[in-house]
Amino acid sequence: MIETKIWTVDEMDAAARAIKRGALVAFPTETVYGLGADAFNEEAVSKVYAAKGRPSDNPLIVHVADPEQVSEFAIVNEQAQKLMSAYWPGPLTMILPVKPGKLSLTVTGGLDTVAVRLPDNDATRQLIRASQTPLVGPSANTSGKPSPTLAKHVYHDLHGKIAGILDDGPTKIGVESTVLDLSANMPAVLRPGKITPAQIEAVLQTTVDSEIHHVADNETPKAPGMKYRHYAPDKNVYMVAPKDWTQAIIWMQAQLEPVGLMLTNDLIRQHQLAGMDFIWSLGDNNETAAAKLFAGLRYFDDKKDVQTILVAALPQLDVNGAYNNRLGKAAGGHWISELLNN
Ligand code: TXA
Ligand code: MG
Repeated sequence: MIETKIWTVDEMDAAARAIKRGALVAFPTETVYGLGADAFNEEAVSKVYAAKGRPSDNPLIVHVADPEQVSEFAIVNEQAQKLMSAYWPGPLTMILPVKPGKLSLTVTGGLDTVAVRLPDNDATRQLIRASQTPLVGPSANTSGKPSPTLAKHVYHDLHGKIAGILDDGPTKIGVESTVLDLSANMPAVLRPGKITPAQIEAVLQTTVDSEIHHVADNETPKAPGMKYRHYAPDKNVYMVAPKDWTQAIIWMQAQLEPVGLMLTNDLIRQHQLAGMDFIWSLGDNNETAAAKLFAGLRYFDDKKDVQTILVAALPQLDVNGAYNNRLGKAAGGHWISELLNN
């Protein structure tokens, strides 16, 4: 066991020294906290997989502080160039062909491509510059848990296993970046995020494949991470469509055990739920809902009395794609309507 430090952003130097000596440091981004290590130090990168309990064939995103840094280890094509100008720093990860020699197979999971991202967080960009190396950065959770949106989530999962956490408060977006594959003929969204397919198409002036491909265990998936169950809660999670809330609450009241509810403030008001136990507010709008989703799932994970959670699905708009995708995974695709007798 090592003692895990929590550093403020003013204590950046200590965090950078830890990275330079090959230790693990969790860093904030605009999406979720990442688990950082020197991307050019194979031993440090191996420790990332061990700390998370992550399968070794699931490759890591390499985080840079400046777009120019990418050409050290990947081939930047014209499409990537355009998207970097438009959306970096920001929640868009691009898969590019790797330049041989620089990155170990541990980073790329043996693929001939690499995922790159420039996060929109000043402290983390300073950390990357001070460390004088790009950083690998999977989400800083134990494999199978929701991604961390607060330093205390990281501490909960990884304390004793990592050198420290750079704490910059709650992350703004709350769901992981859009992953876009630019290494094949047609650009393809492998994981929906805040940057939508329409926003990518607007910049590239070409069609983007935005169907999320589901892969069986025996296939080689496009994004290896997609074959693993992301958040496998011990609780029963059900999605609730906007039209089903009245019935869902009647169902809830008929249960013997307490049921957790995660919903927006307008629904809390509409159904007069304010002040009740076992409610997690998703805030006032679609953006706050995305920012508070993972924290709410973690909140109920720790509530022994609660075995079932009902969570508001958002209207199927392009901007809600990432939220509904992550919620769908947590719920294993289940809707409360399956239990209602309409
Ligand atoms: O917002 C984010 O992207 C966060 C923050 C910390 O930057 N990071 C993150 O990393 O979510 P991670 O490792 O939890 O998810 C990265 C995803 C995985 O599904 C992985 O399989 C996929 O990207 N991926 C990484 N490299 C890839 C590659 N070369 N080809 C295809 N998919 C790749
Ligand atoms: Mg992750």
